[in-house]
Amino acid sequence: MYAITIPEPGGPEALVWDEVPDPVPGEGEVLVEVVASAVNRADILQRQGFYDPPPGASRYPGLECSGRVAALGPGVSGWAVGDEVCALLAGGGYAEKVVVPAGQLLPVPEGVDLRQAAALPEVTCTVWSNVFMVAHLRPAETLLVHGGSSGIGTMAVQLAKALGARVAVTAGTKEKLDYCAELGADILINYREQDFVAEIERATDGAGADVILDNMGAKYLNRNVQALAVNGRLAIIGMQGGAKGELNIGTLLSKRAAVSATSLRARPLGEKAAIVAAVREHVWPLFADGHVRPVVDRELPMSDAAAAHRVVEESGHIGKVLLVAP
Ligand SMILES: NC(=O)c1ccc[n+]([C@@H]2O[C@H](COP(=O)([O-])OP(=O)(O)OC[C@H]3O[C@@H](n4cnc5c(N)ncnc54)[C@H](OP(=O)(O)O)[C@@H]3O)[C@@H](O)[C@H]2O)c1
Repeated sequence: MYAITIPEPGGPEALVWDEVPDPVPGEGEVLVEVVASAVNRADILQRQGFYDPPPGASRYPGLECSGRVAALGPGVSGWAVGDEVCALLAGGGYAEKVVVPAGQLLPVPEGVDLRQAAALPEVTCTVWSNVFMVAHLRPAETLLVHGGSSGIGTMAVQLAKALGARVAVTAGTKEKLDYCAELGADILINYREQDFVAEIERATDGAGADVILDNMGAKYLNRNVQALAVNGRLAIIGMQGGAKGELNIGTLLSKRAAVSATSLRARPLGEKAAIVAAVREHVWPLFADGHVRPVVDRELPMSDAAAAHRVVEESGHIGKVLLVAP
């Protein structure tokens, strides 16, 4: 088969479409013939040499895919050759074939095209596990999503609205904020021109956000805690603004607030399977109802993953950038 390899870390040109051995499914695994994959920020860090795949994972980039089941390893039940699926991966999605633990497979949701289903596993699992399983966002609460027009952000806005929350977003341009409004966002904050703490206070009559989904890490840590409501929950999923910040524990104490941080890729198989099962149960029906849809900025050939990485690195996209296998 062909896959995107990274012979030497570096810029987008480090991604090389090359012939490699076919993967073979082991116990409890399924071989998927890939139709499409999608770009995640983590793939860029991996390409640059800053984010090695966890032990046992494929060396090739790609944290999600859609495709058809091509073979079943020993001990797999509930799936059949030819099934149309999408999958959460620890790596290897930028390839014509990939091996997936059976617990990380999902059927293509009703109403979603097989190719576009590649845009779903990473964003639905990350948003569901952080905003709902950890931070327990409830109907009528206010969620602040930083980077509202990102792959993660566009799914967070839709899921929170579908479940009855009020949603605030930050983004860097009016075009991106307008798109978030189309998805249902109620409070629009341009992070280049406005102070999100002041804007959240104003929009919530001083109460603050009940839950914040944060991609910035250190840079926003203190301001996020300031923007939280009493009993608020800050869920950190990214470090685009650095890893080491200063936390005002006094503010956290007085608000009886909580800070969590999780990374999906390196979690044990059992935890990933539990998240995937919860997503299938709670999120998948929302696609059939038309409440939620994949947001795909563009589709590019997988062999030209470099072009897709350039788009994402320049933040030239809204939602997800797909890589379509030949
Ligand atoms: N922990 C996990 O398990 C996990 C899983 C998946 C993703 N993530 C993380 O989630 C984040 C989003 O991922 P993605 O793939 O959806 O990325 P993406 O589409 O590339 O989006 C990155 C976002 O960052 C926003 N941004 C940049 N500077 C900002 C600032 N100062 N304030 C607010 N937003 C800012 C961008 O907004 P503009 O375009 O408007 O500038 C853009 O929306 C990344 O940090 C990624 O690493 C974590």
